[in-house]
Amino acid sequence: MTSPAVDIPTADQMLRRIRASNGAVPLAELQRTHNLTQVDVLSHLAYLADCDYKLRLRRDTVTFQSAPDLLTALEIEHGLKTARFGRVCHAYQTAKSTNDLAMQLAENGAPEGTIVTAEQQTKGRGRLGRSWHSPAGLGIYLSLILRPDFPPERAPGLSVLTGIAVTETIRSVTNLEAFLKWPNDVYVGGKKCAGILTELSAERGRIHAVIVGVGINVNHGVAHFPDNLRRQATSLRRALGRKVTRIAVLQEFLRTFEKMYARYQRSDLRSFAPLCKKICYLRGRQIVISAGAERREGIVRGVDDSGRLLLDCNGMIQAINAGDVSIVK
Ligand code: BTN
Repeated sequence: MTSPAVDIPTADQMLRRIRASNGAVPLAELQRTHNLTQVDVLSHLAYLADCDYKLRLRRDTVTFQSAPDLLTALEIEHGLKTARFGRVCHAYQTAKSTNDLAMQLAENGAPEGTIVTAEQQTKGRGRLGRSWHSPAGLGIYLSLILRPDFPPERAPGLSVLTGIAVTETIRSVTNLEAFLKWPNDVYVGGKKCAGILTELSAERGRIHAVIVGVGINVNHGVAHFPDNLRRQATSLRRALGRKVTRIAVLQEFLRTFEKMYARYQRSDLRSFAPLCKKICYLRGRQIVISAGAERREGIVRGVDDSGRLLLDCNGMIQAINAGDVSIVK
C-alpha cells in the first residue's frame, strides 16, 4: 500500500489551526475542513512531525506542543510583529549568498521589506572581499531589500543603522552587552558575533535598492568555527552558555530595524546619538584605519550624524567614511 501524498500547503494550514487552538483539535475537524480521510490527515501530521514539530495525538485529537527553530517562511511569519519587513519571505535550505539572491529579486521588482534567508550559505560574502562562514542550522543569514527614498550618499549611514539595530536586538533578546564596532560589526565579550554587508544598486543619483545582508553567529560552538576564526569570532550561545532561538532573534531584528529605518528616513542618525554612544565599541580607543593605500591613526571620539567615524588625529578631528579598523594595543 502506498502512503497518501502530502500536500505541503494543506499541512501548513493544519499546523496554523492546531497552533492557534488553545487545546486539542479533533482530527474529524481537520478531515472536514480539508475534505480528507483520517489516514490522509494522519499522513499530514506525520509530515509535520518529520519537520520537527512536536504534536500530541490523543483520542482522535491533536495538540500543538512546540515548533522547531528552523528558518522557514512559516516560522518566520508566525508571530512576526512588523508591517512590511519579512512579510514577503524567500527561505532557502541552501544558498550561495542570500545577498546575491536578494539583489536578483530586487532587480525583478521585489517590494521593500522582502527578505531572503538560508539555513546555510556555500559562498557567504563579507565586507572587503572576505567570506562569511555560514554553517547549516547555526546562524542567521539574512538579506533584506530596501528601497529608500533618499540619495545614495545616505547609504553608509543606513549601514551603521543596521549595526545599531543588530546590537540592540542582541541586547534585548539575550541581555548580553553587545557593542557596535564601527561601521557595522557587532561584538560580544571582545569578539565578533555579527557582521553586515550592505550593497547598493543606484543610477544617476537614485537608489534602486539597498540589500542589507546580516550574518549572526547564534548557536555555533567553538568547533563550528574554522581555526583561523576561533580567536576573533564568537556566537551568542558561546557568550551566553546556552542555545538561543534563531527565530526570536530574527523576528526581533526585523521589528527593531523596521522602526529605526522609519526614523532614519525622516532625518539622519541624530536621534540615535545617545544609543550610538552607549554601544560604541571603539570610543576612546586608539585605532588604525586603512582604506586602500591610506592609513590613519588616532583616538576614536564617536560617530557623527551621517555615520562617519570621528577620529582624533593629534587634536584634529577627521570624519571618516569607510575603512578597515584595527585596534592599537
Ligand atoms: C562582514 O562582517 O564582513 C559582513 C558579513 C555579512 C554576512 C551576511 S550573511 C547574509 C548575507 N549574505 C552574504 O553573502 N553575506 C551577508
